Amino acid sequence: MNIGIIGIGRIGKIHLINCLSHFRQVNVTAVMNPSLGGQEFARSLGVTSASADAREILENPDIDAVLICSATDSHAEYVEAAARAGKAIFCEKPLDLSLDRVRRTLDIVKEYRVPLMLAFNQRFDPNFADVRQRIQSGMIGDIRSLHIISRDPGPPPISYIKKSGGMLMDMTIHDFDMARFQMDCEVTQVFAQGSSVVSPAIAKAGDIDFATVMLTFENGATALIENCREAAYGYDQRLEVFGSKGMIRTENPLKTTNSFSGNEGTLHARNLGFFMDRYAESYRLELKAFFDALQNNERMPATGDDGLKAMEIAAAAHKSIQENRPIML
Ligand SMILES: NC(=O)c1ccc[n+]([C@@H]2O[C@H](COP(=O)([O-])OP(=O)(O)OC[C@H]3O[C@@H](n4cnc5c(N)ncnc54)[C@H](O)[C@@H]3O)[C@@H](O)[C@H]2O)c1
Repeated sequence: MNIGIIGIGRIGKIHLINCLSHFRQVNVTAVMNPSLGGQEFARSLGVTSASADAREILENPDIDAVLICSATDSHAEYVEAAARAGKAIFCEKPLDLSLDRVRRTLDIVKEYRVPLMLAFNQRFDPNFADVRQRIQSGMIGDIRSLHIISRDPGPPPISYIKKSGGMLMDMTIHDFDMARFQMDCEVTQVFAQGSSVVSPAIAKAGDIDFATVMLTFENGATALIENCREAAYGYDQRLEVFGSKGMIRTENPLKTTNSFSGNEGTLHARNLGFFMDRYAESYRLELKAFFDALQNNERMPATGDDGLKAMEIAAAAHKSIQENRPIML
């Protein structure tokens, strides 16, 4: 399978390295990045075609699939162009910042009948995937509530925040998808509170850096999501599901499994640094799922519609904060 990668920044580099080191059946034929840094990075890993022109990928008939890892505001344009070129598409989240644009883009993808996977990598995290399997097995009975805690170690640069669509669309979107993924059910109501407690620069850019969102699902269960752009102790990604027959909780993987015990108690290692190491396995597994689905002609494990649903929840959460009331979906 020949692939092209558009956008070689933080996430593009992770996908490029995974493609080169884990998938023998995959050949990275070309990459595109507007600035030289990304191009040189790819060349240093042996990719021979690296340019600032996406047509080198989209118009190359030998390329079967495109990984879109560029800045969010360019995703929809590339997804549409790749669909028209008949390529299979793997696209980073979110698909765009406008719901109308996403709906139009998904219509084009359907019209050209190309496979599209949305990169909700957390679905492939072994801990979270295990939680879903246990829920599906009936082990904890009827689900009553889900708690998701997602705190970043520190905020991204303001230049990233300004293009990100805001915390709900950029960060909480993973949690909205995770809530739907675990519940296997749709959200009917969203009630959110948001504030800026971490960085005055984020507030000045018009964004929040702390949010609490309560989701109500069709089956009556609720999910409570807490997000913060800063946590003094490192990347904090936990989840707890409570059901009629029991409870499942995932803890943070730590840097080492060592512990030190002394007079005052026991000290464990620090949390992992950030998404690059905490979700390293999930990034490899989501690409495997994409390539497997393509090879076996199967449904993608996270679709464009999943992306749209998560965005609709994010938009409702935004409205809920602005109007200080629950929003029905
Ligand atoms: N799934 C995840 O865990 C995860 C993690 C980080 C980022 N992301 C998503 O990935 C995307 C990129 O984020 P990032 O953190 O890598 O950002 P980044 O700023 O590090 O990298 C973006 C790259 O895209 C390039 N770029 C900008 N505009 C472009 C255009 N019009 N055409 C082609 N390339 C362009 C930039 O030069 C840069 O190299 C965002 O949509 C973000 O939401 C997802």
